[in-house]
Amino acid sequence: MTLQELSASLHDCQRCKLAKMGRTQVVFGTGNPNASIMFVGEAPGFNEDQKGEPFVGAAGKLLDKLLESAGLSRAQVYIANVIKCRPPNNRDPEPDEVETCKPFLLQQIAEIKPALVCTLGNWATQTILERKVPITKVKGQAIRLDRFVVFPLLHPAAALHQGNLLETLKEDFKKLKAYLDRQQTPAAPTSAAPTATPTPAQSQMDLFGA
Ligand code: URA
Repeated sequence: MTLQELSASLHDCQRCKLAKMGRTQVVFGTGNPNASIMFVGEAPGFNEDQKGEPFVGAAGKLLDKLLESAGLSRAQVYIANVIKCRPPNNRDPEPDEVETCKPFLLQQIAEIKPALVCTLGNWATQTILERKVPITKVKGQAIRLDRFVVFPLLHPAAALHQGNLLETLKEDFKKLKAYLDRQQTPAAPTSAAPTATPTPAQSQMDLFGA
């Protein structure tokens, strides 16, 4: 199933109770369908529910700035949430809602095939890593899974609510940029197979799917 077909199939999703708890629309995700870098948040809030796009409120404005600080633009990456419908009063997602919606996030990832998945906050991090590890233990580091690398980051909304976390989040985006820069630097040629070493242009294209 293509990303578009998946999005269409969820258009009027009634699979969990959030469908009947005041959501305006399903917020599927936006960005480059061939992105090498994907960002995954928790769930749509008020503004996202109104507009049908992830991260368009205050947390989204901060995310835009942070992306820019890492040399990234929204158009280049793909942004989605674990939960596609707004929970009432922005409450935390409930386990049955995560279980119902998680397969669709995994399908999005399988279709987009990003090299890197940046998880924003505890929910996305624990859902993707499939373990109950606190974000504070794993943030700002690259964790290799089978098909992609996970780079957990604090949730931008947490940084808006607790000013002391903003500096940490900015620092972690610097680490993300350093990680991305390292991926673009071709490995020093090893003796045997110089032709196998990607050129900088190739590795840049690989990473950004441009
Ligand atoms: N917070 C999220 O986790 N996702 C959004 O789309 C907006 C705010």
